[in-house]
Amino acid sequence: MFLKNNKAKVGRNDPCPCGSGLKYKKCCLGKKFPKSDSLKALYLKRYNIRLKENKDIEGIRMAGRLVLDTLDLVEEKIRPGVSTDEINTLVHEFTIKNGATPAPLNYRGFPKSVCVSVNEVVCHGIPGQRILNDGDIVNVDVTSILNGYFADSNKTFFVGTPGLDARKIVKVARECLKLGTAKVRPGNTIGDIGWAIQRYAEGQGCSVVREFVGHGVGFEFHEAPQVPHYGRKREGIGLVPGMVFTIEPMINLGEKNLRVLKDKWTAVTADGSLSAQFEQTILVTEDGFESLTPFE
Ligand code: MF3
Ligand code: CO
Ligand code: CO
Repeated sequence: MFLKNNKAKVGRNDPCPCGSGLKYKKCCLGKKFPKSDSLKALYLKRYNIRLKENKDIEGIRMAGRLVLDTLDLVEEKIRPGVSTDEINTLVHEFTIKNGATPAPLNYRGFPKSVCVSVNEVVCHGIPGQRILNDGDIVNVDVTSILNGYFADSNKTFFVGTPGLDARKIVKVARECLKLGTAKVRPGNTIGDIGWAIQRYAEGQGCSVVREFVGHGVGFEFHEAPQVPHYGRKREGIGLVPGMVFTIEPMINLGEKNLRVLKDKWTAVTADGSLSAQFEQTILVTEDGFESLTPFE
């Protein structure tokens, strides 16, 4: 989703978000803590974050299963000569057939049912007449609404035989999602996630896109909080059980800057370098995380 300016942070010396009145570092920082009704009310009031209950989590999990099945179907179809519009048709029809709705269609004026982003396209590619060529990389970002619940996941696929640059950027982006996700547990913060991603990506000589971030998801397409894929350890909102958000790092082979095309959606790297992305919908559990769109 689009980055909005938002300065909510829990510092070590701030009051603990659990409402105890103690400093964060003396209380919940680094500790497990329960998803109490008061925590739910506090996260809503303080951050506009809607913590999920078990029945909500089961609903998002079911939507997530459908999203993964859709991505598997797309993977089978991808080969040189296929147009991005054919991927849209496949996703649209499979989603409807399964009693769900494609969330992108007409979302803020987006004209198609899925985002398909080829090579230098960072995200929000609009399916159309573009034909996939041997050696391309293509990201397919699927969000489905099933029984009122949203799940959001994407993967970057190779078309035919990848070159060295394609292999590198896809490998780094996949690893970034994994390292960011590994930071998800109660007591860690949103900044810990971005820090882990940024450190690895830049260490590999790649860059992290700033303009688009992960986001809360489940009741709606884009909810609070925002989840940047860069940042500092121990900064940002504290993670608590029942939070559900995406992690979806967009990683560029060259510079981090991007521009948006005249269609007002398609974001491309400013330097024309390759960009790759992986996304999962992640639940914070009592002792870590569970992916509600589990792949790998
Ligand atoms: N699925 C994208 C995300 O992860 C959002 C796409 S918005 C759309 O945040 F309108 F382009 F579909
Ligand atoms: Co998303
Ligand atoms: Co998405």
